[in-house]
Amino acid sequence: MRNGESGVRDTSGVRDTSSGPGASGAPPRLRVACLLGGPAETDCRPPGVTHWLDELAGERGDLALRVLDLADYDLPLRYPEHPTEQMSSFTAELAWAEGFVVVTPECNRSFPAQLKHAIDLGYDEWHAKPVGFVSYGFGCDGVRAVEHLRSVFTELHTVTVRDSVGIDLRFTDEKFPAGGSIYSDGLVRAAGALLDQLTWWGLALREARAARPYVA
Ligand SMILES: Cc1cc2nc3c(=O)[nH]c(=O)nc-3n(C[C@H](O)[C@H](O)[C@H](O)COP(=O)(O)O)c2cc1C
Repeated sequence: MRNGESGVRDTSGVRDTSSGPGASGAPPRLRVACLLGGPAETDCRPPGVTHWLDELAGERGDLALRVLDLADYDLPLRYPEHPTEQMSSFTAELAWAEGFVVVTPECNRSFPAQLKHAIDLGYDEWHAKPVGFVSYGFGCDGVRAVEHLRSVFTELHTVTVRDSVGIDLRFTDEKFPAGGSIYSDGLVRAAGALLDQLTWWGLALREARAARPYVA
């Protein structure tokens, strides 16, 4: 929403996976919202993707991760005259975050409409913050969805981090035993690079926003 229209903060539908200060002498943990963008009815998210990211964030100790699952929100397609409670709750979570990881499927070489609708509900809440991506597809790893998202997030005055994580669900059954983790060493390394860059930008932009107002 533009110019501070966000409503009262309500954390319903949001799982807070970590909180509190960083290691002694370190800056407070970077507040990161993990936005799960797939449509609920067709979504085939990589198993445990949020749990996996949460574990990686926990090992680092410098991130406080919250999950923002679009399936938990009822966001009206037509804009009402005044924001609904769910809309205000959603944008308040965007405002809380100092950085974002967007988890998206690839749908017809782009990202799902539901995700675009949710992204468009925010405006000021995105400004001068970093965004990283975890994508997946069936036939490719979702990189085309990520490239489209980068363009959208440029308009919202964010910084998109270079490294992303891409998962091709075609290969998950063959490579990994049933019940096993799909998160190979390569994916863990990719996620490490993503989180390193997100944290660097997140801390740098936290200081920059505190030093002077952003010029949107
Ligand atoms: C409408 C639709 C379009 C899709 N388009 C693509 C695509 O362009 N590229 C891709 O890699 N996967 C595509 N997928 C697969 C999804 O990214 C995701 O892997 C899928 O939802 C899970 O597999 P499922 O088809 O068995 O549900 C598409 C899925 C749907 C429902």
